[in-house]
Amino acid sequence: MNPHADNNSDVEHQQSKTSIPSRLYAIADTPKVSSLAQICETSISRKDYPLTSDVRENIPIYDLSKHDFQKAAADKLQDEWYEILANGPGLFVVQNMYTDQSVLDATNDAFREIIEREKSNTKGDHFGHGKNERIWNSFSKHGLQDPKSFVQYYSNPWLARVCEAWLGQQYRVTAQTNIVKPGGAAQVSHRDYHLGFQTAEGCSRFPRGMQHASQFLTLQGAVAHSDMPLESGPTRFLPFSQRLASGYMAYRQPEFDQYFNEHWVSLPLKKGDGVFFNPALHHAAGNNTSDVDRSANLLQISSAFGKPMEQIDAIPLVQACWSEVQSLYNSEGLSEHVETAVAAIGEGYPFPTNLDNRPPAPSGMAPTNEQDLLREAIGAGWTTEKVVAALKQMRVDSQP
Ligand SMILES: [Fe+2]
Repeated sequence: MNPHADNNSDVEHQQSKTSIPSRLYAIADTPKVSSLAQICETSISRKDYPLTSDVRENIPIYDLSKHDFQKAAADKLQDEWYEILANGPGLFVVQNMYTDQSVLDATNDAFREIIEREKSNTKGDHFGHGKNERIWNSFSKHGLQDPKSFVQYYSNPWLARVCEAWLGQQYRVTAQTNIVKPGGAAQVSHRDYHLGFQTAEGCSRFPRGMQHASQFLTLQGAVAHSDMPLESGPTRFLPFSQRLASGYMAYRQPEFDQYFNEHWVSLPLKKGDGVFFNPALHHAAGNNTSDVDRSANLLQISSAFGKPMEQIDAIPLVQACWSEVQSLYNSEGLSEHVETAVAAIGEGYPFPTNLDNRPPAPSGMAPTNEQDLLREAIGAGWTTEKVVAALKQMRVDSQP
């Protein structure tokens, strides 16, 4: 800091010489695929992660039957997992995460019963209709369907050790069951929640720091509920790709998908094995060319830190304030003042939600949020009663 910069002319001089970088990634300035290649063309060995039982295709593998899940004993394992997710390949396999096959069988029975019940109205299939079964929020549905296998399944201390390694304490587990039948197609390569539910343009409005931070707010995982030979299409990964800082801007570009298709790796899993990965890692479900159903419980675990300190309920606020917002709109149109009031009163993020009632669009984009609804209502001149009723309906639809 210049101690003499205490008058206006010095300050102006300083500013004219300083170039502050943009806080945003420009949408027109997508990184080159060569940047991704430079990051990904590296390799690891067991020497890098001494507690592994194997490293194949740059994927560290841990045989949990050889380790103790007690907190103190698992501490060094958790160090390796954190390092892998943050700076290493971005994923690891845990063999024998579930060793009691009867728990998985009872859980699969519960899933089958849920699927039969939902069959007439299943929505939001990511992979194409007729080829697959998906249970949104299999976590809650499993608990209500079969408390015994649910408690056995979710009391597995390895689940806690893995979640704590990336997210620390007070995480929230959610899950979706995914069964891909023979003939099921592969997914296009992508990154996951949060920014994986945005368009590139939507991402470009989030500053660089948030794009980097979002990968620390979620842990993605899958537990194999059937054996998954390679022909059945277990998830394909591009190790190290989470390290491309602007990757949420880039992964939708055709040349990035092409690079993925030329370089992905995948490992077969046994029933009861798990795989966990950084949500920023480029990945895609494979196509099932086998004659077996590929069945997984997808785990998405969220950090405690995505939540505000106080509960805000938009409905009573809209009830009280709608005529004030309307009169502001009537005098100014959709001005910055109106936009800012809408952003303050309504919830701008549609998650968490009920994905059966409010599925992502076929392109995988997020459902509408309260602010979208308020903007529509103000433009169309809705009464207080009408906008409150619509918000209440959105709330009902979002409940589990
Ligand atoms: Fe995904």
